[in-house]
Amino acid sequence: MSKNKPSGCSEMVTHLSVLNKFKRLKSPLEPSFGIVGFLFVAALFIGSCFYLDYSTVTQRLRNTGQSWLRSGRVPLDEAAAGRPRFLDESGGGCDVFDGNWVWDERYPLYESRDCALLDDGFRCSENGRPDSFYTKWRWQPKMCDLPRFDAKMMLERLRNQRVVFVGDSIGRNQWESLLCMLSSALSDKAAVYEVNGRPITKHTGFLVYKFRDFNCTVEYYRSPFLVAQGRAPAGSPEDVKITLKLDQIDWTSKQWADADVLVLNTGHWWNYEKTVRVGSYFQVGNEVKMNMTVEDAYRRSLETVLDWISAHVNMSKSQVYFRSYAPVHFRGGDWKSGGTCHLETLPDLGSSPVSLVHLKILTDLLTDRSNQTVKNNLHVLNITAMTARRKDGHSSLYYLGPKLGPASLHRQDCSHWCLPGVPDVWNELLYAFFLKGDSVRSRNLTNAS
Ligand SMILES: *[C@@H]1O[C@H](CO)[C@@H](O)[C@H](O)[C@H]1NC(C)=O
Ligand SMILES: *[C@@H]1O[C@H](CO)[C@@H](O)[C@H](O)[C@H]1NC(C)=O
Ligand SMILES: *[C@@H]1O[C@H](CO)[C@@H](O)[C@H](O)[C@H]1NC(C)=O
Ligand SMILES: *[C@@H]1O[C@H](CO)[C@@H](O)[C@H](O)[C@H]1NC(C)=O
Ligand SMILES: *[C@@H]1O[C@H](CO)[C@@H](O)[C@H](O)[C@H]1NC(C)=O
Ligand SMILES: *[C@@H]1O[C@H](CO)[C@@H](O)[C@H](O)[C@H]1NC(C)=O
Repeated sequence: MSKNKPSGCSEMVTHLSVLNKFKRLKSPLEPSFGIVGFLFVAALFIGSCFYLDYSTVTQRLRNTGQSWLRSGRVPLDEAAAGRPRFLDESGGGCDVFDGNWVWDERYPLYESRDCALLDDGFRCSENGRPDSFYTKWRWQPKMCDLPRFDAKMMLERLRNQRVVFVGDSIGRNQWESLLCMLSSALSDKAAVYEVNGRPITKHTGFLVYKFRDFNCTVEYYRSPFLVAQGRAPAGSPEDVKITLKLDQIDWTSKQWADADVLVLNTGHWWNYEKTVRVGSYFQVGNEVKMNMTVEDAYRRSLETVLDWISAHVNMSKSQVYFRSYAPVHFRGGDWKSGGTCHLETLPDLGSSPVSLVHLKILTDLLTDRSNQTVKNNLHVLNITAMTARRKDGHSSLYYLGPKLGPASLHRQDCSHWCLPGVPDVWNELLYAFFLKGDSVRSRNLTNAS
């Protein structure tokens, strides 16, 4: 394929083993009443644009929305009737991951053409994606309200700090989203730069962007497995080309350990195709485990990650997040056998079938064996179920760059996400936890003084 494919194109996976574990709950071609309702409102909205000014239209949309809302079909968000704010003390117990996608005219938070810090692979609208509904959905928890993202405030709070993302290319997707969200507050585009002068399109091991006026860096380290990968021990069977050292954290971890905000993710590479199939076997100690299942290997690697956190991360200084697996949405095949998602323009407004196997392994480990300090301070960004509903958010055909136009129908990217888009919402959740952690800390500091 051409050089212009998205940075993580080769990382696209389908997770057949996981997907096979659940059946689609309903035929994807059978539109729900909610979708019909939404289409009606959307059509009305688009129609209205030709006649009315903006505020009248949104008013109209709201009024129409209300009648649909009463029938429980269209998820337009109305005035937050009595919901506590997440950042208030009363919002403390709210499960922010339990909620709905709601249409919000104030989105997106930025436009890709205004953000230089984005791979071409994520610039869907510039790459020819015709629809933009996918940029307009906000996440609304059932029991509380999230703070609206305020880039200035976040940069202010990040002064003299390091934010570090570590993981696979979906983690990179999220990292670039945060770069754009934050830089939207800057009028001087030269005020943010890569410290080694490397362009964002270069798929190097790590990239460090500095927000000059805030002395803050937002960094990405590529580490799709989080544990180390390297040469097989001498005398290994011939099939063994390389091994994943399940009991050793990635060699670059020294650079992440003292991040102020550390955001980890892994998952998309933990499958047979990306490991044993290509001769990358699992190793523990000096032993290559020829028969170890991918699931056992994944569990073992997470133990290593949790142990590393308790031994090397100062939990009173650093906020540590683990973002859960982001589902893929290939239909009728996988990435190399013509699976598609390019006709999806709307989210699933009900719930979608979702596999929580990765998440369960992590939460079981946290329950069973993790150090209490780590358990209390590791935030799981449990985005799997909410993201499963966003089949409309993927790059699909629109990852080749503005000059090349849409990709072939048989080569779709239903793993990565258009930006602006779904990863922005993960970052809004990160923002909410970050501010919350910050305020808890400052309350405790105040109490102590
Ligand atoms: C993650 O969120 C989903 C949806 O709210 C929920 O079903 C699941 O139990 C949650 N898992 C964890 C570990 O919090
Ligand atoms: C900039 O931030 C780093 C930590 O990321 C800190 O070590 C350094 O002292 C800061 N510099 C200034 C001038 O405050
Ligand atoms: C791995 O599995 C094969 C076939 O099931 C078996 O013959 C072999 O002894 C196993 N090896 C180990 C180290 O368990
Ligand atoms: C648990 O983790 C904390 C913070 O990382 C560390 O200070 C402490 O020594 C750990 N305790 C045990 C029993 O490993
Ligand atoms: C951990 O961080 C806190 C807050 O920054 C600091 O006071 C403490 O000395 C650090 N502990 C270690 C072992 O570095
Ligand atoms: C803040 O103080 C409360 C109550 O004293 C305590 O339970 C909590 O763990 C503290 N949080 C942090 C981050 O120190």
